[in-house]
Amino acid sequence: MARYEINGGKPLNGTVTISGAKNAAVAILPAALLVSGKCRIENVPNISDVRILMSILHRMGAKITSPEAHVVEIDCSEVQCTEPDATLVKKMRASYYLMGALLGRFGKAHVALPGGCNFASRPIDQHIKGFWLLGAEVDETEEYVALEPGEEGLHGSRINLDMASVGATVNIMLAATLLPGQTVIENAAKEPHIVDLANFLNTMGARITGAGTDTIKIKGVNSLHGGTYAIIPDQIEAGTYLAAVTAVGGNVLVQNVIPKHMECITSKLQEMGAKVINYDDSIRIMRSGKLRPSTVKTRPYPGFPTDMQAQVCVCMTLANGTSRLTESVYETRFFGYCAELESMGANIQINGKTALVKGVEKLHGSTVYAHDLRAGAALVIAGLAAEGITHVEHIHFIERGYEKLVEKLTELGADIRRSEG
Ligand code: EPU
Repeated sequence: MARYEINGGKPLNGTVTISGAKNAAVAILPAALLVSGKCRIENVPNISDVRILMSILHRMGAKITSPEAHVVEIDCSEVQCTEPDATLVKKMRASYYLMGALLGRFGKAHVALPGGCNFASRPIDQHIKGFWLLGAEVDETEEYVALEPGEEGLHGSRINLDMASVGATVNIMLAATLLPGQTVIENAAKEPHIVDLANFLNTMGARITGAGTDTIKIKGVNSLHGGTYAIIPDQIEAGTYLAAVTAVGGNVLVQNVIPKHMECITSKLQEMGAKVINYDDSIRIMRSGKLRPSTVKTRPYPGFPTDMQAQVCVCMTLANGTSRLTESVYETRFFGYCAELESMGANIQINGKTALVKGVEKLHGSTVYAHDLRAGAALVIAGLAAEGITHVEHIHFIERGYEKLVEKLTELGADIRRSEG
C-alpha cells in the first residue's frame, strides 16, 4: 500500500495554488444529468472522488471528455440508465447525489447506498424525507434506495429540514429543478458549495433563489440547456494549507481562494498567532512566534467547518497552553486521528464532544494511519511539524480530496515523498 514519508521540521515558504472544490464538483457533475446538451465545467479538481464519479457517469452513457487539464465536457443527453454501477457507487460518499439527479431527470432511480469516509454514522433520512415530500415512493433497504413516482406524481413541495444537511439540500435541489411547481427548502445548508451548485444550475437555465441563506426556492423549469461554468476554489483544501503554515511555520501565498469563504478559518488561525493578509483571490499567511491556545467549536457554515477540526487540532497540539476543541456536527470525528497524534507526542483528552488539547513543546515522527480524508490531512501536517520521520499510511483516503498534495508541499519546501509497497 502507498504511504507518505515526511521528514519534518522544515518551514513552508512560497506559493500554493488551490484546486477546485471537491464538494462542489461532486454535486455539479451529477447535476449535468439534468442538462439537455453539453456542459463545459472548469476548475474541476483531479482527485479520486471526481474520477470515480466520472466513471459512474461514463458507464451510465454520459459522453465525457477533458479537452485540457481541470476542464470536463460532459453531455448526458443520451443517458438512459437509472441504476448506476453499485460497486463504483459504494466507493464514495457523494454518489448519493445520483439519487436526486436521476429522480429529477427520469422520475426514478435505483442507487446503492454509498461508501466513503465513515468517521461517524451518516444517516440520509433527510434526503429520503425530501424525495418523499416531492412525491416519490421510496423503497429503502440496507443495500440500496429505489425511487419511483408516487400516486400523485412528482411535484414541487415545501421541505423543512430537521438539520441544515449539506447532502439533503443538494439532493433536493437536484430532484426539484425540473419538477412542476415550486419547491421551498427551509433550514437549508448554507455552505459555499450549495451556492456553487445553484449558480451552476441557474447558468444552465434553472430558477433557484436564496442559496446561501436558510431558505432556498426552486421554481421548476421544463429543461436545462448546456453552458460553461467554473467551480469555486476548495475552502477546505485552502484551510488545510493555512493550518499547515500555522502549525509548521513559514510564509506562504495561498492563491485561487475566495477570502470571504476563509474568514471562519483565518480568524481562528490569527487568534493562535498566524499573521494573515487577504488579497482579492489569495491569502498570505505567516507564522514565526510561539502558537497561542484557542477555543474552537465546529458549526455549519459560516461557522468553523467540521472538515477543519483535525487540522486545527494539530496547531493546538503545539500551542503554549491548553485549547478547547468542540465538535457539533459529527461527534465521533476525534476518534479518527487523536490517538495517532498522541503516538507523535500530543496530549489530548477527549470528553464527549470536546477535546482538551494541552500544547507540547514538539511532536516527534511516528508511523500513523489515516482513517478518513481530513484526519489524514491532519496527520500530514503533524508530520511536517514533527521532529524526525513520519510515515502516513492508508493515504488513499487523503487522495480522495487533495490534488497533488506531495507536489504542492514539495514546492513549499517540505520534505515529503510518496512510496508504494
Ligand atoms: N444528518 C442526518 N440525517 C441526514 C443528513 C445528515 O442526521 O439525512 C446529520 C449528519 O449525521 C451530521 C449532520 O446532519 O451530523 C450534517 O450532515 P450533512 O448532511 O451536512 O453532511 P454530508 O452532506 O454527509 C457534507 C460534506 C462533508 C462535510 C459535511 C459537513 C460533501 C460531499 N460532504 O457531508 O465533507 O463534513 O457536509 O459540512 O459535501 C469531507 O469533505 O471530508 C467531508 C466529509
